[in-house]
Amino acid sequence: MGYKICRIPGDGIGHDVMEAASLVLEQMDLDIEWNDTEAGWCCWEKYQNTVPEHTWKALESSQCCLFGAITSKPGIKGFKSAILQIRQRFDLYANVRPVKAFAGVPLNYRDDIDLVIFRENTEGLYSGVEFHPYPENLFDIHPGLERFKGKDVAVSIRVFTREGCNRIVRKAFEYAKEYGRKSVTAVHKANVIRLTCGMFLEEARKVAKEYPGIDFWEANVDAMAMWLIKNPQNYDVLVTTNMFGDIISDQAAQLVGGLGFASSANIGEAFALFEPTHGSAPKYAGQYKVNPIAMLLATKLMLEWLGEKEKARSLENGIARVLKEGKVKTYDLGGKSSTLDVARAVADSLA
Ligand code: NAI
Ligand code: MG
Repeated sequence: MGYKICRIPGDGIGHDVMEAASLVLEQMDLDIEWNDTEAGWCCWEKYQNTVPEHTWKALESSQCCLFGAITSKPGIKGFKSAILQIRQRFDLYANVRPVKAFAGVPLNYRDDIDLVIFRENTEGLYSGVEFHPYPENLFDIHPGLERFKGKDVAVSIRVFTREGCNRIVRKAFEYAKEYGRKSVTAVHKANVIRLTCGMFLEEARKVAKEYPGIDFWEANVDAMAMWLIKNPQNYDVLVTTNMFGDIISDQAAQLVGGLGFASSANIGEAFALFEPTHGSAPKYAGQYKVNPIAMLLATKLMLEWLGEKEKARSLENGIARVLKEGKVKTYDLGGKSSTLDVARAVADSLA
């Protein structure tokens, strides 16, 4: 039985890097039936809807989605980000971001970094529960609000559920167990944001007890930001809440070469979406100039999720060989090769 995968290039360089991924996958002897469809700004222009009905249908009739990048423009009435809608509809609660240094990448800070960040993807400060202006009666809900009365106040509510905390930590531990990782570090700020981070930490400690073979560490997010610079090689798996994860994963990505190398998986119980972390970089759209490695690493994550462990490993090894040789590289690595040159080099190295 083959795989049924929804393929959404999106906008801008999403098309360039998706072509690169498709080229490499063609070399891999996989039985894939593609559900090709569209989402993002291109759909907003055509239908005033970033995820039209036919796109939902294509997603729903697929096992998972390979996603390029989309354009989001602020200040447009009724505009909703396609990727946020997909994450919410399919409850893709785990945002998984590997941070691995590859030899041959000149920006490398150190070459022994190999950690994976699990970021909660559906709750916390990104729940979208916000007020401005602030409804008067809400001043009654907490005495701490009294001192803000009479001011122009905006409020964003940080919503955590016990279930949400539990499942993201569990996902991180399950991953650590499956891939032989030594430690899981829960990143929080429970000393200040006592109730929400407190609940997260409580669940983390509870879940950790079920995995006696894996070390469990705790770190305050501000200290973690420092340690990521100071000794990133000491960390294996980090698990954290939505906003902290957003910030430390971009920080960590820069340690290993930046946006051209940052891939991510959005994983739920029944569906998953794999994408590079970068956006649609409109100024390079259609020029086949940008680095496809982030997209290829996202493709590797998809193969892993599908259970194609051997092929996933082989793809990563191919990427590592091309980077180490350093002959075929895009502008961001000081090279002149095109997006598809890099894809072809990776494909060749698999043969
Ligand atoms: P961006 O990631 O698209 O590009 C920023 C800069 O990073 C580019 O100008 C380029 O210099 C560099 N860059 C990005 N990807 C690269 C690659 N693969 N190889 C080499 N260099 C690369 O971020 P920006 O400019 O802030 O946003 C552009 C659009 O993308 C916006 O509409 C934004 O909303 C959207 N976006 C979409 C995301 C997604 O699809 N998940 C994520 C981030 C931004
Ligand atoms: Mg981010």
